[in-house]
Amino acid sequence: MDTRMATKDLVKNGYLNLDIDPDLDLVAEINRLKKEKNAIILAHYYQESEIQDIADYIGDSLGLSQKAAETDADIIVFAGVHFMAETAKMLSPEKKVLLPDLKAGCSLADSCPPHLFKKFKDKYPEAVVVSYINCTAELKTLTDICCTSTNSVHIIESIPEDKQIIFAPDRNLGAYLKKKTGRDLILWNGTCMVHEIFSHEKIAKLKVRHPEALLIAHPECEAHILDSADFIGSTTGLLNFTKENDAHEFIVATEVGIIHQMELASPHKTFFPAPPNNTCACNECPHMKRNTLEKLYICMEHELPEIILEDWVIEKGVKSINRMLEISEKAGLGLKPTVDQD
Ligand code: 13P
Ligand code: SF4
Repeated sequence: MDTRMATKDLVKNGYLNLDIDPDLDLVAEINRLKKEKNAIILAHYYQESEIQDIADYIGDSLGLSQKAAETDADIIVFAGVHFMAETAKMLSPEKKVLLPDLKAGCSLADSCPPHLFKKFKDKYPEAVVVSYINCTAELKTLTDICCTSTNSVHIIESIPEDKQIIFAPDRNLGAYLKKKTGRDLILWNGTCMVHEIFSHEKIAKLKVRHPEALLIAHPECEAHILDSADFIGSTTGLLNFTKENDAHEFIVATEVGIIHQMELASPHKTFFPAPPNNTCACNECPHMKRNTLEKLYICMEHELPEIILEDWVIEKGVKSINRMLEISEKAGLGLKPTVDQD
């Protein structure tokens, strides 16, 4: 059986049974399976709140990769998207890494196909390639150093001033880094579908109704949103800002899932999701939201679908992730501020 098959195909081919007894206590079952199988559940802040509540560790992309590298669990269940589970597999190749829905992809990772990026990179043979971790495992094999939104400034600043730098795949984060570091980065033209839909006009109207509210934004947002933000940061950075700042109202320009941890940490504060420029009132990542409690249970019960990577991809790609982890460790970045429910 090909363990890379999507959930739908696993069901069609009879490998998975998705009929769940409605009386089943999913939370109790998942906790039982965690113990029985020595499994750890790692969840990104953009997951459904019920998944966040059952996870052993909730964090941003940097914290999640650090946790995946250090865990002694036999099975890593990744409640996140495909590139995150691939990163966990590259860091812990001897472990079984499961993703509840293999179709939980990422528009940003998809916006940078490795064969096209290779041609782009060949035009700048002297350049150091820095890739945002939101990219495929194969793209990581074409990368010198990975970065996340938490450590991106440190990573760029760790590269000697006389070196050309290619930054992929997020052009918004790239433009932000150019401004922040003063380095002339060569940018790949990719974006995240969630962070490019915020409406400046609707945010301004929300500000009129809530003049005390601070606008906080993820650096994947477009420049005109970042220019008017009171604070810019990774998901962990935004969460910590809302805990530490005295303001009582925040307009949050990132995926709405993070608000669950913000409300848990500061129950007396109010969080408004930044409105998008479409008629739909939500700013959810459809990829992140493919994971459900039901799929989490099924994937732990059957240990499917599993992330499988070719050896050469792991060997080559992990170097760029390890380089990132080394620089982050030296800078004292990571794990501490995220939510560990171990
Ligand atoms: P961080 O949680 O690392 O800020 O990344 C945000 C994101 O878009 C993950 O897909
Ligand atoms: Fe990808 Fe954007 Fe979804 Fe993050 S929020 S997984 S970058 S599509």
